[in-house]
Amino acid sequence: MGGITVPEVEDYLYDMLPPRDEVLTEMEADAAKNDYAIVGPAVARVLYQLAVISRAKKVFEMGSAIGYSTIWLARAAGPKGKVFYTDGDPKNAQRAQSYFRRAGVARRIEVKIGDAMELLKKTPGTFDMIFNDVDKGQYPAALRAALPKLRRGGLLITDNTIWSGKAARPAAEGDNHTRGVQAFNRLVYESKQLYPVLIPLRDGVTVCRKL
Ligand SMILES: C[S@@+](CC[C@H](N)C(=O)[O-])C[C@H]1O[C@@H](n2cnc3c(N)ncnc32)[C@H](O)[C@@H]1O
Repeated sequence: MGGITVPEVEDYLYDMLPPRDEVLTEMEADAAKNDYAIVGPAVARVLYQLAVISRAKKVFEMGSAIGYSTIWLARAAGPKGKVFYTDGDPKNAQRAQSYFRRAGVARRIEVKIGDAMELLKKTPGTFDMIFNDVDKGQYPAALRAALPKLRRGGLLITDNTIWSGKAARPAAEGDNHTRGVQAFNRLVYESKQLYPVLIPLRDGVTVCRKL
C-alpha cells in the first residue's frame, strides 16, 4: 500500500494509534506474515467511528478475509447488532470464525461463504452500513449490488479507492483492478443517489451516504 501520503506522515499517523487488544494484534501479525490484505488499524478506526456515530446495527461486509474489519464493525454495532461476514474462500471463513470466538463477537456475526454480491442480494432486508472490500475489478458490480440494499441515510464504505495512486493515472492495458476502482469512483461521484467523500487515508477510503 502507500503512494498517497509521504512516508513520514504515514508513520506519524500510525505511531499515534493506541495499541489493539491481543486478538487484533495477532490478526495484524497474521495478515503481515501470510499476505492477507486487511484494512489495518487506521481505516478500521474510520469504520468503527462511522458505525458508532451512525448507530449502524445491521451491517453487511463484502470481502472479509480473516475477519479483521468484521471484528471492528461487530464491536461498533454492539451486542444487539448483526454483521454479515462474506468471503469466497472457506479457509478464510474458518480462520475468521476462530478469531470471532476469541474476540467475543461470534454471536453477532453471521458467516456466509460465496460471492459477496450474490449473498447480499439474497440476504433479506436493507442495511445501515455496507462495507465493500472485494476484488477491485468487481467494484462497479459491488456498487450495483449495494445500492438497493442500503437504507436511506445508510453508509456504503469502500476501501482502496486510490489504489496506491494508480486510480489517479491512466490504467495500464489489462489492469482491470485499476479500471474497476476508477469506474467506481466516477460512478459514485456521478450518482444522484449518493453523497460520496473520498478520504485519502492509507489507500483511500470512500464514504457514501445514501440520499
Ligand atoms: C482485501 S481482503 C478483505 C479484508 C478485510 N475486509 C479486512 O480488512 O480485514 C478481500 C477479500 O475478499 C474476498 N473476495 C474478493 N472478491 C470476492 C467476492 N466477489 N465475493 C466474496 N469474497 C470476495 C477475497 O477472498 C479476500 O479474502
